[in-house]
Amino acid sequence: MKRTMIVASTLLLGAGAVMAQQEIAVQQDKLMRSQAKSLYTVIQKMTKGDIPYNQKQVDEAIANLEADVAKIAKTFEVNPKQDVVDATYGSSPKVWQQKADFDSKIPPVQKAIAEVKGKIKDVASLKAAYTSINDRCSDCHETYRLKLK
Ligand code: HEC
Repeated sequence: MKRTMIVASTLLLGAGAVMAQQEIAVQQDKLMRSQAKSLYTVIQKMTKGDIPYNQKQVDEAIANLEADVAKIAKTFEVNPKQDVVDATYGSSPKVWQQKADFDSKIPPVQKAIAEVKGKIKDVASLKAAYTSINDRCSDCHETYRLKLK
């Protein structure tokens, strides 16, 4: 009886840990998707004319990006050792093998955002801002993001 209970609680603990790890992976993915919402769903679409230029939306997207990017280092502190179920992209193990280098990819994104903040006034300046920010996102993805499918 005692043994059965120990086995059962060990199994439960195991399941809890797996769920917690999946939750960490989901949080990391959510942060990236939130950034993608600002940079691709709002900014890039406006540069392409898919949606009309809107100053308020631009300013909000930049502010949201700034807030999200500031959370990357902390959000990726723990290695979930698993990918989000059915995800297209996952984290390379290198993120946690060389976390300092991973973290060093964040300030350049913040600098690119700071340089354009409050200065975007039209589609032309939005396009330039999009490219300068996106290039810095890619600098991290090149090494640390894996395409899973
Ligand atoms: C310091 C490294 C780093 C920076 C900077 C970074 N990312 Fe990521 N990004 C990752 C990693 C690692 C993954 C894969 C894990 C994941 O999806 O959570 C990822 C995944 C993504 C994904 C795929 C999400 C999915 O699963 O569909 C998108 C979209 C994305 N990032 C957008 C951005 C944008 C936009 C920026 C710039 C504003 C950015 N990222 C900056 C590391 C970074």
